[in-house]
Amino acid sequence: MHPLLSLSVFWLLPLALTLEEDSPLDCIPRRSVPYHRDNAHLFHEEGVSNYSTMLLREDLDLLVLGAREAVYALDLNDISKKLASVKWEVTQKQEDECKNKGKDPETDCKNYIRILHKTEDNKMYVCGTNAFDPECDYMSYVDGKLTLEKKGEDGKGKCPFDPFQRYASIMFENNLYSATSMNFLGSEPVLMRSNPVSIRTEFKSSWLNEPNFVSMAQMPEGELSEDGDDDKVYLFFSETAVECDCYNKLVVSRVARVCKGDLGGQRTLQKKWTSFLKARMDCPVLESQLPYIIQDTYRWCDPQQRWKDCLFYAIFTPQSDTSDLSAVCVYRVSDISRVFAEGKYKTPVPVETSFVKWVMYSGDVPVPRPGACIDNEARKAGITQTLDLPDRTLQFIKDRPLMDQAIQPIGEKPLLVRRGATFTRIIVNQVQAADGEKYHVMFIGTEQGTVLKAVNYDGEMFIIEEIQLFPHPEPIKIMAFSNVTGQIYAGSDAGAAQIPLATCGRSSSCMDCVLTRDPYCGWDKVVGKCILLSSSQSELIQSVKKGDASLCPDADPVKPLNRSFWPGGNLKLNCPSPSNLAKTSWERDGSPLITEPRIQHIGDTLLILNASNSDIGRYRCLSVESSKAAEYKTTVAIYQVSVGPAGPGNKNLLFPQAQRDGPSVTGLQAVLGLFVVGFLVLLAWNFYKGHIPLPWNCRKNQEQPQDQEGLNSSVTYQEALRPALAEDKPLVSGTDNGTSNNNHTGGEAAFSAAEENDAPKVNLPSLQFIDDESEI
Ligand SMILES: *[C@@H]1O[C@H](CO)[C@@H](O)[C@H](O)[C@H]1NC(C)=O
Ligand SMILES: *[C@@H]1O[C@H](CO)[C@@H](O)[C@H](O)[C@H]1NC(C)=O
Ligand SMILES: *[C@@H]1O[C@H](CO)[C@@H](O)[C@H](O)[C@H]1NC(C)=O
Ligand SMILES: *[C@@H]1O[C@H](CO)[C@@H](O)[C@H](O)[C@H]1NC(C)=O
Repeated sequence: MHPLLSLSVFWLLPLALTLEEDSPLDCIPRRSVPYHRDNAHLFHEEGVSNYSTMLLREDLDLLVLGAREAVYALDLNDISKKLASVKWEVTQKQEDECKNKGKDPETDCKNYIRILHKTEDNKMYVCGTNAFDPECDYMSYVDGKLTLEKKGEDGKGKCPFDPFQRYASIMFENNLYSATSMNFLGSEPVLMRSNPVSIRTEFKSSWLNEPNFVSMAQMPEGELSEDGDDDKVYLFFSETAVECDCYNKLVVSRVARVCKGDLGGQRTLQKKWTSFLKARMDCPVLESQLPYIIQDTYRWCDPQQRWKDCLFYAIFTPQSDTSDLSAVCVYRVSDISRVFAEGKYKTPVPVETSFVKWVMYSGDVPVPRPGACIDNEARKAGITQTLDLPDRTLQFIKDRPLMDQAIQPIGEKPLLVRRGATFTRIIVNQVQAADGEKYHVMFIGTEQGTVLKAVNYDGEMFIIEEIQLFPHPEPIKIMAFSNVTGQIYAGSDAGAAQIPLATCGRSSSCMDCVLTRDPYCGWDKVVGKCILLSSSQSELIQSVKKGDASLCPDADPVKPLNRSFWPGGNLKLNCPSPSNLAKTSWERDGSPLITEPRIQHIGDTLLILNASNSDIGRYRCLSVESSKAAEYKTTVAIYQVSVGPAGPGNKNLLFPQAQRDGPSVTGLQAVLGLFVVGFLVLLAWNFYKGHIPLPWNCRKNQEQPQDQEGLNSSVTYQEALRPALAEDKPLVSGTDNGTSNNNHTGGEAAFSAAEENDAPKVNLPSLQFIDDESEI
């Protein structure tokens, strides 16, 4: 066992106890929101993929989106509106050259946009992989047009060659800092500043050892600094640990930093960073012996506070496939900064033949301190720039860029751990709740294309909801937040999506609104709606810490629905609970329903097989949800079940699911009837006008789903208002043909009640996804 491993086992033991109490490893989202086109604005263009680079241009009201061979300027308020675009395709010659070097012409030899930054002259700097020959250019948005200047700048060291390789970059005071691979093989990693003087890392495994770059952030540490310190640029990455003398490769997470004013050394470290220091970052997840790997970070700073109070939120995933946990750890910038400014260094010590062991350096440390920025003390000694640094300091840092101490997260444990959906990206937003407190809300993108919305309430982790952004589960590749629009933007291989920070309308009752514990939302008693706190002047009912719904007015009584079955048939009763944290139970005629092989609870539905007269009665479905304040019972649905007309008649063939219902359904029937009549009239008119000359043409039209969409969606909407209605369709009847347009109805079983007003349609992939989630 290598020292790192034994070390982690050592300090994980006491942690195990504290972790178990207040942060369960399988935090379940209270609500699962399946994909629906009304939940998000989507953007995607036919034939274009890999929407994985974003630049917010709030000054121009634009979201600039980089994809494969194209850049788009989208309306920041509604990204489904494309304002401009520009193609940046590789030439045939470039593609052939790339192919000749053994790369795949269809995937590798394209131009993937990787870098998009705003420059000080209000233009943009853009780089692409350009068929394994990275290139950069300037781009402007003028008069509603995106234009590339075709400067053809070399992109080596700024942008990766390989579109699958991770990289990081930021533009800070018009200088590009980039972390990527410099060569075709992807084997020469570099952290580089391109201008005014090009400075880079030493090519040495003790500096960067097979790294995976994750993200970068700048920190204005020079601002009002008493020591005359300099601004810093932080780099987050993972790499193979040099300090580990183990047989297998061990990957660790790192943070490195450099000083803005670094110009390199005079003789030693010429044109190389003199301020490159790195340290291990820990995110101690219980259950795991191997360190977790950093995947993304978000710099969160309070505009009213100094940089020392800034936080880095980071997400971590396991290093081996044996675990499916993801975690969020939070670090104080001041903790990171202190390790670099005051911590001990690690030094290599040769043992045995060719083996090197890294241990804490306990000898004399030269002055000025190796890796420190030029500060007042150095200036007093006549050292005003890094070029003046003595060789002793430079040689020290050249050999020892690694700090001995690892950086621990706040509380020395993760803020959130979740099983299942692997985390990919994170955004954090601060909001002031009705109790006057400010909360940090995390929005976490996952491999399954969902966004988790989570808050930590005094150590208790609560996942408010999990929203499926795209019609098909696609890993979230990038996320951005605009504090101007209050919207979150996400990109995947298939497209980009935009969602608001909160959709309070998903809660249709006061109790649901309060138990959701969403700090953005509260219940307005006057209008009887769950609304945004920021949009209301009056006092709203909200209880984010406790989930106390005692102030809620009594809910309207639930209207009983009539259901009927024919003897020997099956009966399905729906109970769409708004919460995954609630338990549902059924009562018949006032007493608890006993399950038997014939009567089954499947998710949110009650299934009665081979129904007989003994099943007649009044069924009530209850949802029971506990919060810190109390246990809340709500009636979700009441069904009056009776025996209906025996056997499906011939007229059932047309609209079987609307057949056996009482007067409540006549409205639906009327709407359907109207549509049918309207459709026939339209058809007749078209025939008359000669728009549809031949009968088979008409049939063809009918087969095209988009032609019937108007009809289709109205019908589904009507049905969605009464989700249970559609469920009533007997499973035994073989008369489904007439309703193939409505084949989504099965999906509504897994669908929460709050969704029924605005999200009628569920497609199968997203349903599959929900099922998976509930099994976790
Ligand atoms: C680009 O998108 C396609 C799917 O559209 C995906 O298979 C491929 O891996 C993506 N390439 C990169 C470099 O992300
Ligand atoms: C938005 O963020 C920028 C910095 O990113 C800040 O300067 C600005 O004040 C913020 N605006 C609002 C409305 O919070
Ligand atoms: C259905 O129930 C009846 C009695 O109610 C019973 O006679 C019959 O065997 C049952 N059928 C099946 C398939 O279980
Ligand atoms: C259910 O049926 C009863 C009579 O069988 C009727 O009085 C009642 O109005 C019906 N309710 C609904 C909601 O259709």
